[in-house]
Amino acid sequence: MPSNMSIEITCHEEKVTVICQRGNQNMAQLIGRVAIVTGANCGLGFEVAKRLCYLGHDVILACRNEERGRCAVENICNEQNNALASYMNLDLADISSVHKFVDEFHETGKPLDLLINNAAVFDNSGEERKLTKDGFELTMGTNHLGHFLLTILLLEDLENSAALNGESRIVNVTSLLHDTQIKHMKDRAKPLDMNNFFLEKPNTYNGLQAYKNSKLANVIFTYELAERVRNKNITVNCLCPGFIPKTNLGRDVSGAKRFFLNYVLYYFLRYLNIAKTIDEGAEAIMDCAVGEKLKGVTGKFFRDREEAHSSLESMDKSLRTELWDASVLYCYLEGKVPLPTVGLKFSDNLPVKISVTPSPDEETPDLGIKSSPKNHSKLEA
Ligand SMILES: NC(=O)c1ccc[n+]([C@@H]2O[C@H](COP(=O)([O-])OP(=O)(O)OC[C@H]3O[C@@H](n4cnc5c(N)ncnc54)[C@H](OP(=O)(O)O)[C@@H]3O)[C@@H](O)[C@H]2O)c1
Repeated sequence: MPSNMSIEITCHEEKVTVICQRGNQNMAQLIGRVAIVTGANCGLGFEVAKRLCYLGHDVILACRNEERGRCAVENICNEQNNALASYMNLDLADISSVHKFVDEFHETGKPLDLLINNAAVFDNSGEERKLTKDGFELTMGTNHLGHFLLTILLLEDLENSAALNGESRIVNVTSLLHDTQIKHMKDRAKPLDMNNFFLEKPNTYNGLQAYKNSKLANVIFTYELAERVRNKNITVNCLCPGFIPKTNLGRDVSGAKRFFLNYVLYYFLRYLNIAKTIDEGAEAIMDCAVGEKLKGVTGKFFRDREEAHSSLESMDKSLRTELWDASVLYCYLEGKVPLPTVGLKFSDNLPVKISVTPSPDEETPDLGIKSSPKNHSKLEA
């Protein structure tokens, strides 16, 4: 058998020739599908987008900055003549941008087979609590709420593709730092308090706590969504790609610290096999995105490319419901579940107050949400 095989496929009326390496044959089944990767202009997202293009997928790089997004597409296309890569603007820290992105995606008329929720911010530089355009704490707003809304608005597309092709996948990129019980996190971060969701109470905000909460939300969202779409052939999994100091995630770290991390600590941690390379992290995401082994596998957390246990906190079923309902509320997706939900109190100190507009009758079965932006509840700044 040759080490490379060449496959000609027709993808959205365009003929593409894909060279598949022998090692990638277990991924061949999902060739030629449409994928969205958030935060794909650099770091892991970029590497994943590149790999998906290499496999013949039509890849949309969903990035907040046009110049960086287009530059990433250009880099991929310079490397691969036939790459089906395109840039679309998406700012996850802005609810209207998420809606605009989805509308523009629908205008392309493309189906959607794979959604990789990869983008993230981690402000570990200091103690300044920042807000999204909608008044949410920036880390939770970007890493969880932005992706929550994006995913919900694209569910029907994923469902349609799954009905045609047998499977669609959602991959949420989380982190081991969602777990307060791991060595690095003990005494440094606390469990998620749904009554202080945006860490607005005095002396509760720090960048690590905000990141931990948002990555926990990624895991919990994965479990809850996997249950809700179980009968729709959409799989939902999450993973920690490993500790990868060479991406831009630590961009807020001061120059000297960054130098130490990248050029001293990195090699030491590589030696101990604690730090991973960007390639290794990207491969871990690819396993969940297109790995044949994970066909039909859903509602799981992966670490070191193996199924693993997520934190005890992430197993809390009542927290799941609370987080889901709060996310529905914050993203103005009216639900079948009564609002406000159990245990969720909106204090007057919150950066936003939400009043819910009663919904007309049409309902989306099973998901507990309605996604029409026209039915938004009202946000008072
Ligand atoms: N690196 C690690 O050690 C590590 C460990 C565990 C988990 N992870 C996870 O891996 C994923 C990828 O991180 P990375 O290490 O590759 O970090 P990265 O290099 O900083 O990439 C993050 C990406 O997210 C984008 N992004 C940030 N805010 C956004 C917004 N509001 N809207 C749209 N895109 C936005 C960034 O865009 P800009 O370039 O415009 O800022 C960038 O493209 C994240 O989910 C992270 O939590 C990373």
